[in-house]
Amino acid sequence: MNKQIEQIHQDFLEGLNSAKDAMEIQALSIQYLGRKGLITGVLKGISQLPKEERPEAGKKANQVRLAVDNAIQEALQKLATVNTTTEDVIDVSLPGRLPLKGSLHPVSQIQQKICDIFSRLGFDVAEGPEVESDHYNFEALNFPKNHPARDMQDTFFVSDDIVLRTHTSPMQIRIMEKTTPPVRVVTPGKVFRCDSDLTHTPMFHQVEGLLVDSDISFGDLKGILTTFIHQMFDEKTSLRFRPSFFPFTEPSAEVDILCVMCRGKGCRVCSQTGWLEILGSGMVHPALYENVGYPSGKYTGFAFGMGVERIAMLKYGIDDIRKFFENDIRFLQQF
Ligand code: PHE
Repeated sequence: MNKQIEQIHQDFLEGLNSAKDAMEIQALSIQYLGRKGLITGVLKGISQLPKEERPEAGKKANQVRLAVDNAIQEALQKLATVNTTTEDVIDVSLPGRLPLKGSLHPVSQIQQKICDIFSRLGFDVAEGPEVESDHYNFEALNFPKNHPARDMQDTFFVSDDIVLRTHTSPMQIRIMEKTTPPVRVVTPGKVFRCDSDLTHTPMFHQVEGLLVDSDISFGDLKGILTTFIHQMFDEKTSLRFRPSFFPFTEPSAEVDILCVMCRGKGCRVCSQTGWLEILGSGMVHPALYENVGYPSGKYTGFAFGMGVERIAMLKYGIDDIRKFFENDIRFLQQF
């Protein structure tokens, strides 16, 4: 009897040794400990033994049963822990994946910088509607109906007298209607024109400026804009005021800066002229004061408007405005 149970134990240990996975270990458990298992069979047979042999044989068989049971549990446990260490456990020593950090779009950065410079010069910042009435976008700005100057702006019409604003100048009217001078304000925002090429997109950004008080002269306009350009680019940036026309300013001037690429020698960016146009400006036309109900002759002032993308392109040397709106992270990350 003892020999038989020893043999069974021995066979079991060999079987366990060569078991490759949990399934095979389970099979061994059934083979030895199951209802019809080898060890169960031995235990059942004990009652057939002569009385004096029974206690010892019973003890031995039970010891083996326990040992087999423990060995099976242990083997299963070991398999479970091996599995987790190789596959499921997180390796805390690996370097982590950094979260992607967002940043301001280059156009927003430049827009903020423009507004910061004017804030320090005493200007407030205000925003207005992108969908405008013909009245604010044109009429009150001294563009009479059918005036050819309306063609300067390739307008998107929402209806006969509602448009997507073609410039931020309607804010000149909105601000003056609500404010008694002194007025000092810049108004950044989106504007829309039906135009698309290397230097134009149907939506772009402008910052408008308006300063109205008593005794404001063209000299004040030149002083403020020169200070702005020196702070935006650098102190050595030369600029020139070139006569121009806008219905809402008189006299009007466009401001050019010496080409930042060739420093005036002439290149592709400045079309060989050595100069780059960066903003429109002028003394507020008296018709506007009348349109907003200011007493005639009491105030003078100046206004200016600049394209944010254009300034960003000059500052960063970007030759295609469309890059700002393709949202290619590799481009945007550089700013
Ligand atoms: N609104 C003009 C434009 O978009 C720019 C401008 C603003 C000119 C203010 C003079 C005064 O071209």
